[in-house]
Amino acid sequence: MNNEHLIVKHSPPLSGTVEVSGAKNAVLVIMASILLTRGRSILRNVPGIADVYGMAEVLRSLGAEVLFNQAHHELIIDTTGINASTIDRALMQKMRASVLVMGPLLATQGNVSLGLPGGCGIGARPIDYHLKNFATMGVGITYDNESVIAHAQQLRAARVVLEYPSVGATENILMLATRISGITEIINASLEPEVMDVIEVLKKMGACIQIEAPATIRIEGVTELNPIEHSIMPDRLEAGSLLIAIAATGGHIYLPNVDRPLLDVFLLKLEEMGHSITTDGNGKGIRLRATKTPCAVSFKTAPFPGFPTDLQSPMMALQCTAEGKSIIEETVFENRFMHVPYLQKMGAKIEVHGNKAVITGVVELHGTSVVATDIRASMALVVAGLMAQGTTSISKIHHWRRGYDGLENKLHSLGAHINLQDSSTTKNCPIIL
Ligand code: UD1
Repeated sequence: MNNEHLIVKHSPPLSGTVEVSGAKNAVLVIMASILLTRGRSILRNVPGIADVYGMAEVLRSLGAEVLFNQAHHELIIDTTGINASTIDRALMQKMRASVLVMGPLLATQGNVSLGLPGGCGIGARPIDYHLKNFATMGVGITYDNESVIAHAQQLRAARVVLEYPSVGATENILMLATRISGITEIINASLEPEVMDVIEVLKKMGACIQIEAPATIRIEGVTELNPIEHSIMPDRLEAGSLLIAIAATGGHIYLPNVDRPLLDVFLLKLEEMGHSITTDGNGKGIRLRATKTPCAVSFKTAPFPGFPTDLQSPMMALQCTAEGKSIIEETVFENRFMHVPYLQKMGAKIEVHGNKAVITGVVELHGTSVVATDIRASMALVVAGLMAQGTTSISKIHHWRRGYDGLENKLHSLGAHINLQDSSTTKNCPIIL
């Protein structure tokens, strides 16, 4: 595993059509939400990524049967045999999203014990918003040797105010609230598209949920939720990553299954750079035709519908060779500039001042060996590698595998000079049918 590298070479303008995979950030929470039901649920359009295998292991460790037909992107989860509520620390360490089983397990089992979650090292990433608000809803929390032990003492519906619209905290509280008698309101909730996808799933299960302006989720608890079938929404972050790669090489692309409203602010910034964006009508499908003379743009990350933090690093790579100066402000995660030293090593001119990065466009980058520090940083280095002269060798690509389903193959089919050395995406995944 440690010897695996992505090898990227300077590439000609990429062109073609790509169906993007199902969204990582939707499928993980939806897999956790299935714990609210008993029986057999079927998820479709599931991406074959390491985090899905990781979450499948978490569910299996609780007694669920999980079968993944990777060829058909279909995941069957049978929760009939759920008999545990403790999650091994090693499983929790694999990814932060594993914390999302807390809400469903508290709702159905009344208690949960788990190690503190791992995942991308893009900041402190505490789970205090989750725990504080669970406590408001009647959950007792204790700590034991880096584990959290949560016990539903007397669950009660509550008015929960989030000081920041945390995606994970919103999802966890929402899932717990679906099974608590009475009306829970989440004020200043995250309304990211992936949260909306899990709300659709919960409604299919029988939950009563309403969204009220400006950002309140109102949940009326029910006594039982039922298994569902659901097709996971397309991954807007894979879509954004592809659009950046095409822009970087001066090519053109059509993404038929991604809609403009998922990426409005991001697309606005690509247009400001000089790239042409069109849709099929009603915002359906996205086409990008890249300019050969891109100019630098500035932006700051923000919760949806703002500029997505997950596209900040690949977008920064794109600014490295654009004409002029770009100022990027990262407001969501305090440590999401870890890709910067590697872009600098490739010849980029970047200065970091706190949570701001100032990028001055250079004529060209050069390939070298670099390290992927998180999922989106791996994409930033691929983008830089496509533009750079020579060969870029990217190590620690387990991050790439965590978030992208065969994106190297999609890029290759568009004309990119990219390949995964020592690839074997399925060797650690015993759950494949
Ligand atoms: C999710 C996404 C991730 C994305 C992020 C922001 C998944 C699996 N991951 O992560 O790809 O980049 O949303 O869109 O869906 N925070 C706290 N205390 C908490 C919770 C969060 O301080 O209890 C802080 C975090 O450290 C961070 C900010 O709030 O600075 C946003 O985090 P959050 O929205 O919770 O992101 P995740 O759900 O972890």
